[in-house]
Amino acid sequence: MVEKDEGTPLPEATVKAVFGQIATAVTVVTAGRGSERYGATIGTLGALSLDPPLLMFALKQDSSLLQRLAAGSPIGINLLASGQQDIARRFATAGIDRFAMTRWCEEHGLPRVDDALVWAVARVRDRLALGDHVVITTRIDHVETRTGSPLIYWQRQFASLA
Ligand SMILES: Cc1cc2nc3c(=O)[nH]c(=O)nc-3n(C[C@H](O)[C@H](O)[C@H](O)COP(=O)(O)O)c2cc1C
Repeated sequence: MVEKDEGTPLPEATVKAVFGQIATAVTVVTAGRGSERYGATIGTLGALSLDPPLLMFALKQDSSLLQRLAAGSPIGINLLASGQQDIARRFATAGIDRFAMTRWCEEHGLPRVDDALVWAVARVRDRLALGDHVVITTRIDHVETRTGSPLIYWQRQFASLA
């Protein structure tokens, strides 16, 4: 059961059903370099502010990527393109080398996933612990986009807009 702030319990299945209806774009967030590289799949990327240019996302409290993100940490934001669901699954799997089977390169000192729809280099600005997640806001320093459509996650399945 999930406790609302007022203390009224809400069944977890109900909350999950609502979250499952929220279609999200799928992104791999990267940090570190060389053998210290990290990356994880997220579905919580949000456009936050135009001036200054800010993006936000949320990581679970126990995310290993989260431990590497302090204020000012550089991060790479790879918005995946339609068809890149294998990469999304890999970067959500624990206990494997997520980069081993992935085509990627190092740019701006960060891992960049090949053929992503958007590549953005950002710096962590704020960390805000909320519920079982930590909301991260980031300031964008550099961005590259290409034409195509995004990889979507909806009702526990990958989909595309086409
Ligand atoms: C489509 C999709 C979206 C996800 N979104 C998030 C998310 O927004 N935040 C999060 O913490 N985990 C999310 N996950 C789960 C993480 O990818 C997974 O827990 C991963 O193992 C975390 O890696 P880390 O512990 O190395 O940070 C998502 C997984 C998938 C497949």
